[in-house]
Amino acid sequence: MSLREERLQLFLGAASLAFDRFAKAPESRRSIGQFFAALEQPGIMRAGEGSRLPVCAQLDVALAADPSYDLSLARLIEAFKGIEPMLEWRRRTKYDHTAGDNFVDGHANAMIVGPGGLEERNDLWLGVTLLAPHVRYPDHEHAPEEVYLVLSEGEFQQGEGDWFSPGIGGSFYNIPGIKHAMRSVDTPLFAFWALLAERPH
Ligand SMILES: [Fe+2]
Repeated sequence: MSLREERLQLFLGAASLAFDRFAKAPESRRSIGQFFAALEQPGIMRAGEGSRLPVCAQLDVALAADPSYDLSLARLIEAFKGIEPMLEWRRRTKYDHTAGDNFVDGHANAMIVGPGGLEERNDLWLGVTLLAPHVRYPDHEHAPEEVYLVLSEGEFQQGEGDWFSPGIGGSFYNIPGIKHAMRSVDTPLFAFWALLAERPH
């Protein structure tokens, strides 16, 4: 059995507990159950330092939320701080008119587990999005189903539905292929997403 690097293992353990605690919808629970079961098998970890984008200056504020009322969220944030220096923050290259004017410099994504991630693999994607205040992320969709765990204020949309605010610790499920979007309000938006790219048989 190969072991993961300690900080990554700590983070993935914290993510597993937090998703399990906050993902309530039956489809979310099934998806994250499969996700974290498959994640027990480690992938290959990328070596080297991470890299930040200008919007990462918002991280201090985004990570300063005080979720001390819930130990699993507090641990998730602390564990994320441990891996953040190893992450490669990237811009989304594909977007359309639905993106806000300030989108390009107002957002960053980091893949923790998944293609191009800290742990390289194709079957599971676990990543994080950071938006500066008042940034509208473009509509997008993808074949894998997805469970979000939101760690900040911010608004989300599924299909043509109304925008909603999951709040800190909020979680929701995106069915495969559904169009979805997010936008920050007065504070940075910070959210994790877990995609089951290859459903286990
Ligand atoms: Fe998504």
